[in-house]
Amino acid sequence: MSATRIFSGIQPTGDLHLGNYFGAVRNWVALQEGAADTIYCVVDYHAITGGIDADVLPERALQLAGDLVACGIDPERSILFVQSHVPEHTELAWVFNAFAAFGDLSRMTQFKDKSGRAKHVSSGLFTYPVLQAADILLYLSDGVPVGEDQSQHLELTRSIARRFNQVVGEDYFPDVQTLLTEGKRIMSLADPERKMSKSLGDKHYVGLMEPPKRIAKKIRSAVTDAGGEARDELSPGVANLVGLLRLAGEHAAADQYAEEAKRGDLLYGHLKVAVADAVVAMLEPFQERRAQLSNADLRDLLADGASRASAIAKPVMEDVRRLIGVGARSINR
Ligand code: TRP
Repeated sequence: MSATRIFSGIQPTGDLHLGNYFGAVRNWVALQEGAADTIYCVVDYHAITGGIDADVLPERALQLAGDLVACGIDPERSILFVQSHVPEHTELAWVFNAFAAFGDLSRMTQFKDKSGRAKHVSSGLFTYPVLQAADILLYLSDGVPVGEDQSQHLELTRSIARRFNQVVGEDYFPDVQTLLTEGKRIMSLADPERKMSKSLGDKHYVGLMEPPKRIAKKIRSAVTDAGGEARDELSPGVANLVGLLRLAGEHAAADQYAEEAKRGDLLYGHLKVAVADAVVAMLEPFQERRAQLSNADLRDLLADGASRASAIAKPVMEDVRRLIGVGARSINR
């Protein structure tokens, strides 16, 4: 069964990097070619669960939207918008709090990870997956492209939908399919045992909009291994670079470098130059498109996205209020 409406979200943590691109955004772009509607959301209400930063959040949301368009999210073909511009997301999340099982939420591994690291553990961090379920179901979406780390949240989304349908006695929300984004994870350049992430620090990631010289420098400084020895398996750093080369489209070169590395006669400097060249070339059209988008353009495009999203969200929220017996219309009936 294939999905008819696809929804996904991304947190406005700053500029996109190669890990976001290969792990999610590239797939979002490809899904626009299919028959399903595609709805992509910058989830600023999720971002506040990790702390408030009113001075930078609006800028980050706008920046991220610009990066998404530059990568090929087509704001005409897809609905691209910012979560907080459609207030029904948080309203539905509150309703879903009554349907999510506390025990299920307690088992969310992402909560355990994040709360272990946070100084202030907000209850928003705990109910984060409930808001995620609301994002998805507010559009009656039935397909959600995500990485493996989000499977558990989608499992929760399905159990919220099922419980809702059962309680109200109507098959209202669809069963949501997880569209797992395959492809290997991009690891940090400076610590290739960990997933590429902005939060690790500047030298760990390559931002999609970084100047070519900086990109080349970061890749040149990537951690590899001492080299010069035959090995059965590539070390994590070398595997990551070879993987990047392949993802950037240089399959033959990637195969060749991998073989040389296994034989122990690869000069890592050559591999790094090849990776940097391929990545810079791949990013060039994105960077050109990004440079042409003004903040005014982006604001217009997000306003349009929010109004198209609202047109779907409002009637769904009306239905939900009616089904659970809240809202002015329920009383006035
Ligand atoms: N939790 C997701 C992440 O961290 C982001 C997200 C929020 C999301 N709402 C969503 C993803 C809805 C898919 C669908 O990556």
